[in-house]
Amino acid sequence: MKLVVTGGAGYVGSVCAATLIEAGHEVVVIDDLSTGNRYAVPEGAAFVEGNLVDVADEILGGGDVDGVLHFAARSLVGESVEDPAKYWHGNLDVTLSLLDAMRRHGVHSLVFSSTAATYGEPDVVPITEDAATRPTNPYGATKLAIDYAITSYCNAYGLGATSLRYFNVAGAHDGVGENHLTETHLIPIVLQVAMGYREKIMVYGDDWPTKDGTCVRDYIHVRDLADAHLLALQSNSPGTHRIYNLGSGDGYSVREVIDVCREVTGHPIPAEVAPRRAGDPAVLIASSEKIRSDLGWDPTRTELHRIVEDAWEFTRALGDRSHSARR
Ligand code: UFG
Repeated sequence: MKLVVTGGAGYVGSVCAATLIEAGHEVVVIDDLSTGNRYAVPEGAAFVEGNLVDVADEILGGGDVDGVLHFAARSLVGESVEDPAKYWHGNLDVTLSLLDAMRRHGVHSLVFSSTAATYGEPDVVPITEDAATRPTNPYGATKLAIDYAITSYCNAYGLGATSLRYFNVAGAHDGVGENHLTETHLIPIVLQVAMGYREKIMVYGDDWPTKDGTCVRDYIHVRDLADAHLLALQSNSPGTHRIYNLGSGDGYSVREVIDVCREVTGHPIPAEVAPRRAGDPAVLIASSEKIRSDLGWDPTRTELHRIVEDAWEFTRALGDRSHSARR
């Protein structure tokens, strides 16, 4: 199939693009490089640098595109609270333009990169897809609004789509991992301490109602996540919008993550308790039973040790190409 991957220079998008190429697909990556890295675009993908809204018609208009995997998005929770307009326009507007361009050019298959942030603070864990959606920040709200738009486009215009709601994506694959200009995620920050780019890790609260007082999250390996995109694409059917959660189903506390990073890196990784971070839920664990039973998704890299090992190998290999090393 010929597939368009928006945001294919980003962390998740680039690993998914590489996975699609491995599976024999032809891939065109569109990315404006505002947060992505050019080196992350896999060899073998055609690359178009540009704003999605500007280039969508040209790329989709050739009449030979079979589907779109849409990753391009703003994705920082804190930033979305401070500057919501950037998120409503950057996520919702851009996606509506993409959906309209797909419609104009008869491209009827979409996989959408969504998030656990659509649920907000859960009543029950593990979180299933029928849980209430009450996003606690504009980032999650934009992704939820897009899901509503996709559902109605599927119903009215024959689009076939799957939204994948990621929990905590981590790890690396084939030379691509997390290297954000602004890094907020736990595992890359802890590994930056091990690399000497930061002095210590700040633990945001140790008085949460959890096993050791620190927040619990469900970490999923980025390559397992990529496999789910391939399955979603193959199962898309016109007029249907499916929504699946993606996690490993295990919860690890912040302290447990830091301990595994200590084991993997052999570095003492100093940690200091800091106040709670606004908007953090205490526990987020996915139920991924639905995608397992519907599509046969079978993640194989679910051990946290393995996830951290891959992230560490990437972090070391990246060395001074890391944005953090340059600060
Ligand atoms: N944390 C620290 N110190 C840090 C960074 C993070 O203690 O320096 C803690 C956080 O408070 C949280 C846990 O580590 O308890 C994980 O934090 P991340 O920032 O790595 O991930 P989040 O769980 O906040 O974010 C994930 C996804 C988001 C999504 C969100 C939904 O990455 O895209 O879940 O709540 F929006």
